[in-house]
Amino acid sequence: MNEIIELEGKYVLQTYIRPPIVFTDGKGLTLVDSEGKEYLDFTSGIAVTALGHSDEEWVTAVSNQAAKLTHVSNLYHTAPQAQLAQRLVENSFADRVYFCNSGAEANEAALKFARKVSYAAGAAGKTKIITFTGGFHGRTMGALSTTYKDKYRAPFAPLVPNVEFATFNDVESATAAIDDTVCAVIVEPVQGEGGVHAADPAFLHALRALCDKHNALLIFDEVQCGLGRTGTLWAHEQTGVTPDMMTLAKPLAGGLPIGATLMTQAVADTIKPGDHGSTFAAGALICTAANVVFDRVNQLDFLAQVRENGTYLRAQLQAIPSEKIVEVRGTGLLAAMEMKTAVAPLISAARQNGLILISAGENTLRFAPALVVTKDDVETAVAILTKLIMEN
Ligand SMILES: Cc1ncc(COP(=O)(O)O)c(C=O)c1O
Repeated sequence: MNEIIELEGKYVLQTYIRPPIVFTDGKGLTLVDSEGKEYLDFTSGIAVTALGHSDEEWVTAVSNQAAKLTHVSNLYHTAPQAQLAQRLVENSFADRVYFCNSGAEANEAALKFARKVSYAAGAAGKTKIITFTGGFHGRTMGALSTTYKDKYRAPFAPLVPNVEFATFNDVESATAAIDDTVCAVIVEPVQGEGGVHAADPAFLHALRALCDKHNALLIFDEVQCGLGRTGTLWAHEQTGVTPDMMTLAKPLAGGLPIGATLMTQAVADTIKPGDHGSTFAAGALICTAANVVFDRVNQLDFLAQVRENGTYLRAQLQAIPSEKIVEVRGTGLLAAMEMKTAVAPLISAARQNGLILISAGENTLRFAPALVVTKDDVETAVAILTKLIMEN
């Protein structure tokens, strides 16, 4: 184990602070480290491994496809990509999908497409992008320009020009920001990194009306909250508001890298061959994995389980009798527990006690287990957490 940690410390660019663990195996919600110690994973690789680690059907499909064909680039047709596109379009508001490799790239594409819509319409100067306080949309230059935390943006200035922040869940602020110079408004229906805050449905309705009034495109970033995480296939379904574009990534291929930008035909009509592209995107292997994930998640009983276990998780967390807890919130299996103090020591203690958690801001614990989590798993996790909170 130490040898691996030393290699990482010597050769990998240090953009992450990692605990001294080397994971070697995973099955369901269990992770195993190089010493053979088991952990209950309530993070799922930051809301990625939706079916748990090494799901049997997923492993079989990926292994078979890897043995058959992995990659030919987007210069050629492959069946899994076309079939994934059909699934995404036929089960959403969208008419078309653009594939890429990550959440940041999916947002990058959405922002480019919005600019292209203005350009194609000859709407000179209609280039402004409105984004919101607390939002997280990724780390590439365009996506970063729309990400709220100054700490992430400041060292890399100047970023993409003509991006303006309005206040999340504040209709007045959005109304003041959105005018005829705006080409796109990007928002997470449930903010993940920002602390698990759901957008008020009335706020999203107002954004829709403002976008319609000023001929701007509404982009929902469902990279973290989409694909079953909140207990419905898409998080925005619970609000009754439909976007012009939606971005997806994290859970879509169950642990392999993928991103997707879904759009209406009106947006698609302005995009021409050569406008955007990616060598790796949506190869046969990745899309085979994504087709398995999509078909499993897109079942009424599966989504009902997510809602039920999410409610159970929040109820269990709410029952922890501690004054140190400010609030428990969340939707489906994206939950948060805000504490009065920094949660880093609690995350570290939980890990030592066999529970893997992440934060969403300094004082907030985030819970994003695989969507196949059981009530037993919830009880085990909450028991570990309760003991640690009550002891310290
Ligand atoms: C809502 C949201 N958008 C975009 C991203 C960026 O995704 P990626 O890390 O795959 O680039 C994230 C990642 O946490 C996210 O939560």
